[in-house]
Amino acid sequence: MTPTENELILLTRRPQGNVDEDCFTFESQEISPPGPGEVHIRNIYLSCDPYLRLNMSSRFELGKPIPVRAVGEVVATADPRFAVGDVVWGFLAWERYSVARAADLTLVDSKLGPLSHAISVRGMIGLTAWVGMMSIGQPAPGDTVVVSAAAGAVGSVAGQLARLAGARVVGIAGGERKVSHVVENLGYDAAIDYKSGVSLKESLADACPDGVDVYFDNVGGTVLNAVLDQLGVGARLAICGGISQYQVEGQEETNLAKLMGSGATMKWFSIYDHLHELPAFVTRMARLVGEGKIVYYEDIADGFENVIPAFLGLFRGENLGKRLVRVSDEP
Ligand SMILES: NC(=O)c1ccc[n+]([C@@H]2O[C@H](COP(=O)([O-])OP(=O)(O)OC[C@H]3O[C@@H](n4cnc5c(N)ncnc54)[C@H](OP(=O)(O)O)[C@@H]3O)[C@@H](O)[C@H]2O)c1
Repeated sequence: MTPTENELILLTRRPQGNVDEDCFTFESQEISPPGPGEVHIRNIYLSCDPYLRLNMSSRFELGKPIPVRAVGEVVATADPRFAVGDVVWGFLAWERYSVARAADLTLVDSKLGPLSHAISVRGMIGLTAWVGMMSIGQPAPGDTVVVSAAAGAVGSVAGQLARLAGARVVGIAGGERKVSHVVENLGYDAAIDYKSGVSLKESLADACPDGVDVYFDNVGGTVLNAVLDQLGVGARLAICGGISQYQVEGQEETNLAKLMGSGATMKWFSIYDHLHELPAFVTRMARLVGEGKIVYYEDIADGFENVIPAFLGLFRGENLGKRLVRVSDEP
């Protein structure tokens, strides 16, 4: 029998400054059976992503569920494209069950690797790293590549891709556990703990004596400014995100004058402009992970009641790898 009762999280207050539990309300609602062209899904993995915080300030509607990527199992279907028992991923919500249009869902092939990878390394997260590093950064042997939030979901892939391309890779991450992780487990050549109290500018100068050729930026703010001080000639900067600025009113000024005379290029990109690349990417990344060329860590919290703490933890740097929440068991 398909469930009729759902539990979901609504955005009920817009965050000002740091987001906290008071912005959200857990609610039980009846869930209707799928209508024509729709599928009823039992969610298994829900994604927690920094960009959600930005959308909570204005884009997401108050009193509505929070749309996120999720992997789940089809429990009822009114569309011939999916059968009961299929595992799918799509833009669903922070909720236990979802009813979604079949046209908006993608079948997850368990032969390609872990199901959760469909919304992490084999999905839009991995593709973000790929686009930013390979299309914008274009690392080559002899280059020094720097990646911030190097132990995170996107950063951990970006740095490994640069190493595969033959570059020397330096990660920036918060805390000793993360800097050892990126060197020992992810194969970075060096890593800098930006929370150690040592000047980041000096640490970068030590780690990148010939300058930074490629910078993959996930955090913006003071970290970006420190890298701008250390640019090599003709550097490429892929501006992926700026999490350090997502909760502050008024952006920290970026020292763009440092680009003058460097011949550097700086490009912001959105993964939504590259979704057409996803189908080919899925098999390419599944192969790289299967062959052990890309090592991927997920930081999976358990239980629907832990969705908000897991999300808030992103802004305290709690996560090692992609943060997900498992809200029910895999089939
Ligand atoms: N351009 C696109 O289309 C696109 C797509 C996906 C993601 N993104 C962006 O990519 C970035 C990384 O996303 P993700 O999903 O991979 O998250 P993530 O790196 O797995 O998690 C966020 C990490 O950011 C770091 N952080 C948090 N607050 C910080 C602060 N104030 N200053 C410096 N670092 C801070 C923490 O690592 P430490 O402990 O190392 O500080 C934390 O673990 C985000 O900015 C996100 O918005 C962009």
